[in-house]
Amino acid sequence: MPALSEAVIRPAARVRGSVRVPGDKSISHRYALLAALAHGRSTIRNYSTGADCASTLACLRALGVQIDTAAGRDGRGPTVRIVGRGLRGLHRPAAALDAGNSGTTMRLLSGVLAAHGFTAVITGDESLRRRPMRRVIEPLTLMGARVDGDGDRPPLTITGADLRPIDYAVPVPSAQVKSAVLLAGLQTPGETTVREAASTRDHTELAVRVFGGRLTAAGGGITVSGGAPLAAAELEVPGDVSSSTFWAVTAAALPGSDVELTDLGLNPTRTALFDVLERAGAIVERAIESEAGAEPRGRIRVRHGSLRPLTIGEEDVPALIDELPALAAMATHGGEIHVTGAAELRVKESDRISALAAGLRALGAEITELPDGFHVRGRRPLTGGTAHAAHDHRLAMAFAVAALGASGPSLITGADAVAVSYPGFFETLAALTGADG
Ligand code: S3P
Repeated sequence: MPALSEAVIRPAARVRGSVRVPGDKSISHRYALLAALAHGRSTIRNYSTGADCASTLACLRALGVQIDTAAGRDGRGPTVRIVGRGLRGLHRPAAALDAGNSGTTMRLLSGVLAAHGFTAVITGDESLRRRPMRRVIEPLTLMGARVDGDGDRPPLTITGADLRPIDYAVPVPSAQVKSAVLLAGLQTPGETTVREAASTRDHTELAVRVFGGRLTAAGGGITVSGGAPLAAAELEVPGDVSSSTFWAVTAAALPGSDVELTDLGLNPTRTALFDVLERAGAIVERAIESEAGAEPRGRIRVRHGSLRPLTIGEEDVPALIDELPALAAMATHGGEIHVTGAAELRVKESDRISALAAGLRALGAEITELPDGFHVRGRRPLTGGTAHAAHDHRLAMAFAVAALGASGPSLITGADAVAVSYPGFFETLAALTGADG
């Protein structure tokens, strides 16, 4: 599909229909990395179509991993076959590894490379090169790797080693940091433990076990017994609940809406959004239908009910971190949201507090920026206007959701950023709003 750098969004009364979103981004990264460290050939079906997960595959190929991709069946994402090289079996890359826009690629791959006896450089695009990396540099250095950044920032130069296991309390709740340490620990004889004050998504833990790794979770600590070989696996990635968020909040926002999201990953560490929508007054039906790779999956139906004010505090943030821009967009449709304890948003693909505020304001919304959050007071309709996605996929999608409630058309610039996680976003938007003819 050609890059879409500008998208025109026309007001819409409601959204209706059934959607299968692309495969989960977080899970796709993890399956690919673990498959590369396993013995034998793994098959991953419905791999994410997002550019971020393609970056992980490109990095793995540059590290000597044989990877084949084939189109998926029935509109599903591609099937990826990966021939694993075993623990610490990757090859020294000929050039710097490019993680593109993907923080997950950079941070998780750092953990993988920390245990390999060569030097590699991981870099990324302009947005990624602004993101903090001290959080992975610190634990991987404690384990014995040498990791140098440009100060706190990428590119990272990693010289791996025979690591020592550590017991590490992650200072900021982060699934990426937790995963980097677990992936390093998996390749290190002995027991590596990661402790987190607030639970974050547990896809790495579930996936390590699926590949035959030894991992236990108890009392806030997650311990991996490293050094034992992993076995190839047959896997299917469920739909990305964070991509489905945009349709769920739109259905909750617009009266008369009724959206069904099918084949969705329903891991409880990812579904806090639906509880929040219920708190706001939306009608949410959920059905877990199966489990694959220990990841529950099923369907969710969201209908508009009311749009009561929401307050989100620090304790809610780790489980909702990727959903906050979408919730802000929902609030512009006559709701209200007050978010605090979310300073992490400032170091995502963009400064997701100031760029969110700038974009929503450009569409006519009333939003106050806070040091660690924001406050939106929704007064319908918005005027509409031009919002800049700031190289951030989730902002491009959030602005589109807000723009549906404007009195005239809006323009989103940098709209091609959606390809990072959801290449078909605008086509699905047109189908759900009935704007596709
Ligand atoms: C992710 C973890 C989260 C999230 C990101 C994906 C992951 O980041 O925001 O989109 O796949 O582990 P942090 O771990 O930095 O909070």
